[in-house]
Amino acid sequence: MSLAVQIRQHGGPEELQLVDLAVGEPGPGEIRIRHHAIGLNFIDVYHRTGLYPLAMPAGIGMEGAGVVEAVGAGVTHLQPGDRAAYASQPPGSYCEVRVMPARCVCKLPDAISFETGAAMMLKGLTAQYLLKKTLPVQGLQSGDYVLFHAAAGGVGLIACQWAKALGLQLIATAGSDAKCRLALENGAAHAINYNTEDFAARVKEITGGQGVKVVYDSVGKDTWDKSLDCLRPFGLMASFGNASGPVPPFAPGMLGAKGSLYVTRQTLFTHMATRASTQAMADDLFAVVQSGQVKIHIAQRYALRDVQQAHRDLEARKTTGSTILTL
Ligand SMILES: NC(=O)c1ccc[n+]([C@@H]2O[C@H](COP(=O)([O-])OP(=O)(O)OC[C@H]3O[C@@H](n4cnc5c(N)ncnc54)[C@H](OP(=O)(O)O)[C@@H]3O)[C@@H](O)[C@H]2O)c1
Repeated sequence: MSLAVQIRQHGGPEELQLVDLAVGEPGPGEIRIRHHAIGLNFIDVYHRTGLYPLAMPAGIGMEGAGVVEAVGAGVTHLQPGDRAAYASQPPGSYCEVRVMPARCVCKLPDAISFETGAAMMLKGLTAQYLLKKTLPVQGLQSGDYVLFHAAAGGVGLIACQWAKALGLQLIATAGSDAKCRLALENGAAHAINYNTEDFAARVKEITGGQGVKVVYDSVGKDTWDKSLDCLRPFGLMASFGNASGPVPPFAPGMLGAKGSLYVTRQTLFTHMATRASTQAMADDLFAVVQSGQVKIHIAQRYALRDVQQAHRDLEARKTTGSTILTL
């Protein structure tokens, strides 16, 4: 049996209920993992509210770290006793122990703790594919400017550090002066409080009127329009989230008028479609974390039974960096 968090219908944090679930043996391509820590992500809020609908009853959570207890037929990259961590579908990581697909689960290097593993897989692999694989047609060169919204959050603080390691000048936005300071301490070249400043005007000022080559935008509805005004000609608008609500429909002709812009909507699990691509991305993340160039900031810890409060705080923009649930 496992203590687990389930929802029976979409709704507020109060829908997150603790239940006891029977856990069986892993089938072909599956493992059973006992969690030591669980990662909290904004996508968990979309799953809970129904912005991304789930069949009911549903588990929540897509990130965790622990010890592999059993492996099913055909699983060759993991064995019982291995330390492991993952970002994976389907949702269901808010639990003590689970059976799940093995494909996205990676062996965790001994030098990386379970808590760090749980705090970094979904967010760090996202920062990896954004900065390494979601590029403008001209590519990104050392010294280039990029704009990264919500830069003091989980994905954001990793991206600030990784961008600096790549030689990029990351312009951060965040919702308070304290969050802006945090982004700067973590490698952002500039930081803009988008609740008190006109971020498009500030970006133009910082870049000498040129604009940035890429905008990485996970805020969505509230930042979309102005973000397009931050791009230089042929720049890339990389949308990857909707913390403020989904981006409304737009007319493609407007992209021409603003400088022949490119738009993409990226999602992590397209990049993790194969075991080989998942492992390559994870190896890159493990290397940059072990080198010390990217530090994983676990700024909030909640017991699994306090998951409702964790969701309230994440949605109320009270968190910074990564949040984990402890067992
Ligand atoms: N597509 C993908 O592959 C992928 C993968 C991972 C994450 N994501 C997206 O990336 C974003 C960051 O994820 P995360 O888990 O690291 O979360 P997070 O950044 O720690 O938290 C979300 C942040 O968004 C900002 N925000 C702006 N408007 C908001 C609003 N109306 N309500 C709540 N927050 C708002 C807040 O920062 P400020 O107070 O500074 O504004 C908040 O702290 C999320 O949108 C998530 O869905 C996408």
